Amino acid sequence: MNNAGTATFASVLESPLEMISRDMQTNYYGTLSVIRAFVPVLEKSGHGAIVNLLTIVSLASMAVLGGYSASKAALYSATQALRKELKNRGISVHGVFPGPVDTDMTKDFQIPKTSPVEVARAILEGLKRGAEDIYPDPMALQMSELWSKNPKELEKQFAAM
Ligand SMILES: NC(=O)c1ccc[n+]([C@@H]2O[C@H](COP(=O)([O-])OP(=O)(O)OC[C@H]3O[C@@H](n4cnc5c(N)ncnc54)[C@H](OP(=O)(O)O)[C@@H]3O)[C@@H](O)[C@H]2O)c1
Repeated sequence: MNNAGTATFASVLESPLEMISRDMQTNYYGTLSVIRAFVPVLEKSGHGAIVNLLTIVSLASMAVLGGYSASKAALYSATQALRKELKNRGISVHGVFPGPVDTDMTKDFQIPKTSPVEVARAILEGLKRGAEDIYPDPMALQMSELWSKNPKELEKQFAAM
């Protein structure tokens, strides 16, 4: 379960590149490093599952979170690639796309948030069902349905926020 992540709330246009890099290092390269370290262990045991914590803004960017969105979009792309690469090695690869969750990461934002317990439960239920893509809260579910029908509309909705 690759849960570690950072969100610097960087603008891709105006924020220092160090902020963009921090999210990319943790969310993308950091997660890839952990996966690379664990794949041989999972393979040895004959089966396993890798769960990558993405976000609903992996599907379409939100400008106030532009650097974060980009790092998680990169991880989403790698999640798809890993799914194919590990399929015949007994390891399933899952992506989780939460909306806002009530953790330290969002403590400064007065917006509706899902509790981490609910998200954790939904992830485990998704894993039991064998879902490759898990939308663990009502907002994520609603946004993913919109995205699956009309990706441009999700981009527009996020641009209006
Ligand atoms: N909260 C949300 O609304 C939300 C929504 C969608 C997706 N997510 C994703 O859910 C995951 C968990 O986020 P959260 O909300 O729990 O965030 P959080 O409250 O900020 O916690 C982040 C966790 O990641 C760890 N971490 C950060 N950088 C690390 C590094 N380089 N090496 C090891 N551990 C590191 C932190 O450890 P330390 O405390 O030791 O630094 C902390 O335990 C993240 O991947 C996040 O992107 C969160």
